[in-house]
Amino acid sequence: MTRRQAEGHLSSLAGAEVVLGVSGGIAAYKAVEICRRLVDVGARVVPVLTEGALRFVGAPTFSALASEPAVTSFFAGDHAIPHTRLGRRADLVVVAPATARLIGSYAAGISSDVLTATLLATTAPVLICPAMHAEMWGHAAVQENIATLRRRGVHVLEPESGRLAGGDEGTGRLQDPDVVVAEAARVLAGERAAAGGGSTEIGDLRLPGGLGDFDGLRVLVTAGGTREPIDPVRFIGNRSSGKQGYALAAAAAARGAKVTIVSTVDLPPPPGAGVVTVETAAEMAEAVLSRASREDVVVMAAAVADFRPKEASATKLHKSDGVPDVVLEPTLDILAELGRLRREGAGVPRVLVGFAAETADLVARASGKLGSKHVDLVVGNDVKGVGTGFGHDTNAVTIVSEEGITEVPLSPKREIADAVLDAVSSLLARSGQTSPSKEIKC
Ligand code: CTP
Repeated sequence: MTRRQAEGHLSSLAGAEVVLGVSGGIAAYKAVEICRRLVDVGARVVPVLTEGALRFVGAPTFSALASEPAVTSFFAGDHAIPHTRLGRRADLVVVAPATARLIGSYAAGISSDVLTATLLATTAPVLICPAMHAEMWGHAAVQENIATLRRRGVHVLEPESGRLAGGDEGTGRLQDPDVVVAEAARVLAGERAAAGGGSTEIGDLRLPGGLGDFDGLRVLVTAGGTREPIDPVRFIGNRSSGKQGYALAAAAAARGAKVTIVSTVDLPPPPGAGVVTVETAAEMAEAVLSRASREDVVVMAAAVADFRPKEASATKLHKSDGVPDVVLEPTLDILAELGRLRREGAGVPRVLVGFAAETADLVARASGKLGSKHVDLVVGNDVKGVGTGFGHDTNAVTIVSEEGITEVPLSPKREIADAVLDAVSSLLARSGQTSPSKEIKC
C-alpha cells in the first residue's frame, strides 16, 4: 500500500470516537500499539479493559496513550452508567483481542463486565478481532458464535496464522496493529457509505457499496494446490497454501453470498460455507463442473496441476527398482472448460474469475488468459514478489478485465479478496445481473 493510499484509507478515523475493548489474552500487549496508532490518526480513543486484560497489561499504560482514562469496571469512574454513555457516544467499537469468552458472552447477550455491557448497549458498528489458540478458534462453539455475530452485522477481522503463545503454530494470532487499524478505518468508512447509500472513495481504495452486495448470490471458490499421485506415498504438487481462496470465500460470505469451497487444504472455512474436499485435478474438475450450473460466480483460485502421471503405481516404488519412468499427461483445464461451456450457451456461471500465478510478464500473461480461457477477470499474482503469493498472509495482485487493469498493492489477503469481489460486483451490476441465477444445465 502506498503512503497516499494508507493516509486516505485511514482518514475516516480522524475525529471519530472509538471505544477500544481489550479482553484477557496474551495478545492484549498488541492493543497498546493499536491504541497509540488510533490516536495517531486522529481518533478519540476510550480504552475499556476486562479483568482478564488487566492481568496482561496495566490500565495506566492505556490511560497515558488514550484520549480518556481507561474504563475497567462499572464502579471505578465518575459516571454511574459508563456502558450506556460509552455505547451511545461511540462511532465505532473495536475489540482487540477478542477472546473466546468475550465472543461467547457477546453472542449470548451476557453482560458479564463493562466491555460486554458496552457491546450490548451500543448501536455503533463493531469490529471484533479474535485471538486464541488454533484449537479454540476451530471449535464449533466459537465458529457458531462468530456466525451469530456476523449475522447480526458485527464485523470480524479473522486471526492470522503463525506462532502462538507457548510456541505453537496455527491460526489464531491477532492481526498486526496496522492491519487492525486499517480494518477499523475500512469498517467505519464502509458503514458510513452504506448509511449514505452507494459506494465511497477513500484515498485510492474503493470500498464496497454495502456488506450485502452478494446477498442471495451463489459463489464457488477453489482453493489450494492439487496433488497428482505417482504412487501411494509420492505426488506432484505445488506450493499453494489455499489462504487466498479461503480469504475470498470469507469475504464473499461476509458480503452475503452462499459459498462453496472446493479445496485441497484443511483450513477452517467461513461459517455457513460448504466445503468439498478434493485432492487431484480430476477430482477438482468433477466437483466444480458438477456444481457450476448452480453458481452465479466461480473463482478458480486453486493452483491446479497442468500435468499428472499417466499411470500412478498402485504400490510404493522402491529405489531398488531404479529411477521411475514417470510419463505425464495433461489435466483438463477446468477454467478453460467453464469458459468454453459458457461460450457454447450454457449461460452460467455469470462471472468467471481465473488466477494467473506468474514469475514474469504478469500483465501480458494475465491478459492472454482472459482471452484464451474466455473469462471475465484474471487476477495476476507475482508469486516471487516480497510478501506476495504462496503461503503469505499478504498479497499484491493485478486485476485484468475487458474494462482495464487495477493494481491492488501489498495488503492482507482478505483485502485483496474484497478488491476482487468489488470487481466482480461491478461486472454483475454493469450487466444488470444482480439477482440470483436460475439453474441451467451445462
Ligand atoms: N486452471 C484450471 N485447470 C487447470 C490449470 C489451471 O482451472 N488444469 C486455472 C487455475 O485455477 C487458474 C488459471 O487456470 O485460475 C491459471 O492457471 P495457471 O496455471 O497460472 O496458468 P495456465 O493456464 O496453466 O498456463 P501456463 O502454465 O501457461 O501459465
